[in-house]
Amino acid sequence: MARDHLIRVSDLSVTYCADEGMPIRAVDGISLEISPQEIVGILGESGCGKSTLAGALLRLLPPGAKSEGGILFRGLELMNLPEAELRALRGREIALIPQDPALSLNPVITAGVLIGEVLRAHLPLSAAERRQRVKELLCEVGFDRPEEIYSAYPHQLSGGQRQRIAIAQAMACRPGLLVADEPTGKLDATLQSEIIELLSKIRQQHGTAILIISHDPAILAGFSDRIAVMYAGRIVEVGSSAEIFGRPLHPYTQALMRIASSMITSAGVISRFPAIAGESPDPGCIAEGCRFEPRCSERMDVCSQRYPQTFLPEPSRLVNCFKYGE
Ligand SMILES: Nc1ncnc2c1ncn2[C@@H]1O[C@H](COP(=O)(O)OP(=O)(O)O)[C@@H](O)[C@H]1O
Ligand code: SF4
Ligand SMILES: [Mg+2]
Repeated sequence: MARDHLIRVSDLSVTYCADEGMPIRAVDGISLEISPQEIVGILGESGCGKSTLAGALLRLLPPGAKSEGGILFRGLELMNLPEAELRALRGREIALIPQDPALSLNPVITAGVLIGEVLRAHLPLSAAERRQRVKELLCEVGFDRPEEIYSAYPHQLSGGQRQRIAIAQAMACRPGLLVADEPTGKLDATLQSEIIELLSKIRQQHGTAILIISHDPAILAGFSDRIAVMYAGRIVEVGSSAEIFGRPLHPYTQALMRIASSMITSAGVISRFPAIAGESPDPGCIAEGCRFEPRCSERMDVCSQRYPQTFLPEPSRLVNCFKYGE
């Protein structure tokens, strides 16, 4: 039986066209569905196109970036939507927690006003109602003294507090889909798990679907229902969280998981996530074959000749690798 998807991304590509040099195809033919209330993790190294994908989903890309493909959200094709309708949808139905919210918080606006602006843009509330609603949101994201935080400027807040403000902003209008781009990126391990716990609670309480982006498998483990692994602009493997962590199929996913399991030091401390050997291809000049081929210890002749199609070795899994078919 076909599932009802909240969002269905079909063959989505994004190219940055620079004045000089080759165009960079940062996202290349990505297809992905997210069901209502589902948490999907996007896992991949820095530079593989995760933030570009996040921006593309909200149709929020810098000038010069060209996107093509389909993004069907609640039956609405976002690729054809006029800018005014996109503005009404962003923040209200799909919200983004950007990769670096510290930068996106305006230094001369207090946290309360900042969250209130999202409400003002989308909901017909009086000033008093808005203020009340902001305080409720601040409580919801874990502040026990909402009055104090309401009047605080970004520089008076810690990294963890700023991240909570960004989550309150994103959740202000109860969107159906929250896109969280590296939401724990600059936080220490304790704060990371607090933010993940908060996002779990949000899904539970409001049924929000979440697309969470991370370069670190440990962030996605135990939190995502499904994981899509991205490499050099493409998705190379999709499976349930248990499948991806328990039995990764793609050699790239396997390399990521090997490193993730070696990160627990003898003292039980999780060290900083290291890189796997070799470099991902320059997105400005991609060769024809499998993009992981130069780094893959299992490469075969065919791997450099053409890109592997999507194979379904098991009903719930997708993998792009010649080990699973020709
Ligand atoms: N505004 C931009 N202009 C040109 N190239 C960009 C821009 N933003 C990102 N890129 C390039 O697109 C690729 C993917 O970047 P990004 O989506 O930020 O990856 P990730 O979030 O996985 O680290 C990188 O090669 C990056 O240099
Ligand atoms: S297609 Fe070939 S090079 Fe690519 S991951 Fe699979 S085995 Fe390795
Ligand atoms: Mg990024």
